[in-house]
Amino acid sequence: MRTVDLIEKKVERGELTSEEIAFLIRGFLDGTVPDYQMAAMQMAIVFNGMTDREATDLTMEMMHSGEVVDLSDLKGVKVDKHSTGGVGDTTTLVIAPLVAACGGTVAKMSGRGLGHTGGTLDKLESIPGTQVEIPLDRFRRIVDNIGVAVIGQSGNLDPADKKMYALRDVTATVRSIPLIAASIMSKKLAAGADAIVLDVKVGSGAFMRTREEGAKLATLMVEIGRRVGRKVVAVLSDMNQPLGLAVGNALEVREAVELLSGRIPEGDPLYEICMLLGTKMLRLSELAESDAEARAKLQAALQSGAGLKKLQQMITAQGGDASYLCMERIDALCKTKEVVPVYPTKEGYLYAIDTERVGTAAQLLGAGRATKADAIDPSVGLVMKKRVGDRIRKDEPLCVIYSNDPKKTAVSIETFLGAMTISDEQPEKRPMVYDVIGDAN
Ligand code: URA
Ligand code: CA
Repeated sequence: MRTVDLIEKKVERGELTSEEIAFLIRGFLDGTVPDYQMAAMQMAIVFNGMTDREATDLTMEMMHSGEVVDLSDLKGVKVDKHSTGGVGDTTTLVIAPLVAACGGTVAKMSGRGLGHTGGTLDKLESIPGTQVEIPLDRFRRIVDNIGVAVIGQSGNLDPADKKMYALRDVTATVRSIPLIAASIMSKKLAAGADAIVLDVKVGSGAFMRTREEGAKLATLMVEIGRRVGRKVVAVLSDMNQPLGLAVGNALEVREAVELLSGRIPEGDPLYEICMLLGTKMLRLSELAESDAEARAKLQAALQSGAGLKKLQQMITAQGGDASYLCMERIDALCKTKEVVPVYPTKEGYLYAIDTERVGTAAQLLGAGRATKADAIDPSVGLVMKKRVGDRIRKDEPLCVIYSNDPKKTAVSIETFLGAMTISDEQPEKRPMVYDVIGDAN
């Protein structure tokens, strides 16, 4: 087999066989397929796509390129959730403990933020002492004891994805539905979950900008799961504004604690997406017979404080100081040198938000990284005061910025204001959820 012939085949819109895909991925990892040939192949895939069968073979080959975690000795259905990445998306910190408080087994491997998107590991590390690089045997013990742990991916998980993603990042080949689906699903499958709930984000703060693209990605990931015998449900949700109000690490932990303390009402977008994802996790875990029963269980765990207690237990087990995780003390994690309200330059309605730019405004304060080597300032970020569709008045702030550096504050304010479109016209109301795909109901 020659790599050049396989590239030629994909350029001619041919379908690669399982053997050909295995040859490519194994060769790329052992160095016999050089970067330039892999880059050419990825570009051909960007333009000519893959069949579901090819995408499934690619996923399986990537999954088996490194360690495959076996959680089968743990009790119950091991359920994971994954978001394709967004802004103000604090759902994991809420639903991982809430689902565990309802009897679920949540063994979750998360990522860090890069660019404008936040990452769960960075949020967890804003709680003093919390460890996310935890060896697998200790991870297993924590899940076994309390039903939930959230850690970083172990070093040898899916090396094919690490190498392919690095190449995609610098060759403009990230935005391909089969490549994204294989990248996400190979990592999730290697991490050992029996059931996976995917939150596929669509809009100005997400990879997938349109609902159609998002639906294609979600459908393909559900299909890959089906073909390999795992239960996968995908929720297609809106990312045309930050999901929660807080954007920043400790600020998002504070919002999660507020939600778990019953301070955020039903109908709020973060609340509703958490309930929907949690509902699907409980259904896949076979802990509820209907969506209504699952939601009632989640709400009971929220109202009794069992969800917050589970988060505190998890943080304690991961070495962190859980005494901050209550309404009385959480503000101590969000202390910054300045807290600056940002006022609009004109009145009207908040018509649209460039959500990626809001993420960038928080990142510029130090809430995120521009390169992998950058350090994060856990306390900085911003809290939105208005949502799309709200009436905007000159004396009411659009957001409040938490900053430790006045120079950064100025740049962040400018970026933030550039992300807001204020109009005399009121925008049409958008749904929070566009679709649920792969649902057994
Ligand atoms: N997230 C991933 O893990 N992989 C992609 O390709 C895109 C988003
Ligand atoms: Ca359905």
